[in-house]
Amino acid sequence: MSVKPKTNIAYLFQNAKDNGTYLKVCAPMVRYSKLEFRRLVRMYGTDLCFTPMIMTDSFCRSEKARQVEFSTASDDTPLIAQFAANQIHEYLSSVEMIFPYVDGIDLNCGCPQRWAMQEGLGCALLKDPELVKDLTSTIRRNFPSDFSVSVKIRVQKPLAQTISLCQQLEKCGVTFLTIHGRTSSQKIAEPSNNEFLREVKQSISVPLIANGDCKSLEDADKMHRIIGCDGVMAARGILANPTLFSGKYKTTPIECVQHWTDICYAADHNIAFNNFQHHYAFMMEKLIPRRKRAIFNSLQRKEHIFDFLDTEFDLRPEKIDLPENITCSYDETKFSNRLNQINIRESKLENEKYSSESTPGKFFLEKAKEDLENSDEEEFLQTNMFDII
Ligand SMILES: Cc1cc2nc3c(=O)[nH]c(=O)nc-3n(C[C@H](O)[C@H](O)[C@H](O)COP(=O)(O)O)c2cc1C
Repeated sequence: MSVKPKTNIAYLFQNAKDNGTYLKVCAPMVRYSKLEFRRLVRMYGTDLCFTPMIMTDSFCRSEKARQVEFSTASDDTPLIAQFAANQIHEYLSSVEMIFPYVDGIDLNCGCPQRWAMQEGLGCALLKDPELVKDLTSTIRRNFPSDFSVSVKIRVQKPLAQTISLCQQLEKCGVTFLTIHGRTSSQKIAEPSNNEFLREVKQSISVPLIANGDCKSLEDADKMHRIIGCDGVMAARGILANPTLFSGKYKTTPIECVQHWTDICYAADHNIAFNNFQHHYAFMMEKLIPRRKRAIFNSLQRKEHIFDFLDTEFDLRPEKIDLPENITCSYDETKFSNRLNQINIRESKLENEKYSSESTPGKFFLEKAKEDLENSDEEEFLQTNMFDII
């Protein structure tokens, strides 16, 4: 079994602080913060990456879910795996399985989506601080102290509630905390609250990653200045411009599109088509007009995308050498023993239902719909540039 050497996340924060700076962090993003994208953003100043949120109920039961939801390689570090969990046996077992391949794990207490809330996951956990503490301290107790254990939350009102939760999590031994400066009921169009984050930062001693509305290196520097945080995390901003943390480009430069193309060309069948296509769509938002984006979004084969890039940007895939993906092997024994101990019988198949790849996802679909509605449909229909079947 190949095992990656570990990076000590607490040292990373300390080093950044000693150098008067902060960690630049790529957010956990369902469908998107996968190995290939992590490789791309690491080329442009990102110091720390998160996997997309992984459902522990599927991860600890289904080999198929593990293969779809997680992949890594020797160059994929430092890396935090983020989980959605509300059952201690599932969380502990999932962390045991992924431990050899990551530098830390994170509990998602920030997802506001209805399905997650209904299942008692994401933001719903904020209503049950005792469970969040149990989940966190169980992991802290069972893994080496230099293995990073963290939690990502949103701010809550009154703010005293957030401060109290953060202080309790600090006592549970978290390595750091991430806070998104919007409450769970705030729309993404409403601004994230840096003042709240500053107050939280002043009330805790563990490092804080601040999250919300970072669209450029200037934004990140400003958040660091105002909040006094130890890291700044970007999600939508880094999807639109993976070079964000380099501070060199206001919008995605063609060279970055070229790097994405080469990384995906090398990844070949390891990258799913939707993932490959959607990242281009996000990166090209400022590079090509809506009408062309609508055409691009309707392409359904890799070759058509390569043709599009050739025509539009005179860009073709170039062969690069990348470390091979690590063949992750997972041992289900401890999980099965735990199920036996607590006398749970279940069908394996039932738990293979979840896959983040099974639909294109709301985030992309909403953007694609916008592009289509605002493009000249007649012209679009007459365009025979590509055989889009
Ligand atoms: C497409 C997409 C997927 C996301 N998936 C996750 C996730 O898996 N886990 C999580 O904690 N947050 C997730 N988020 C929320 C972001 O991590 C982040 O907290 C939020 O977008 C605010 O940051 P921003 O203003 O930089 O976008 C996702 C956001 C987007 C846009």
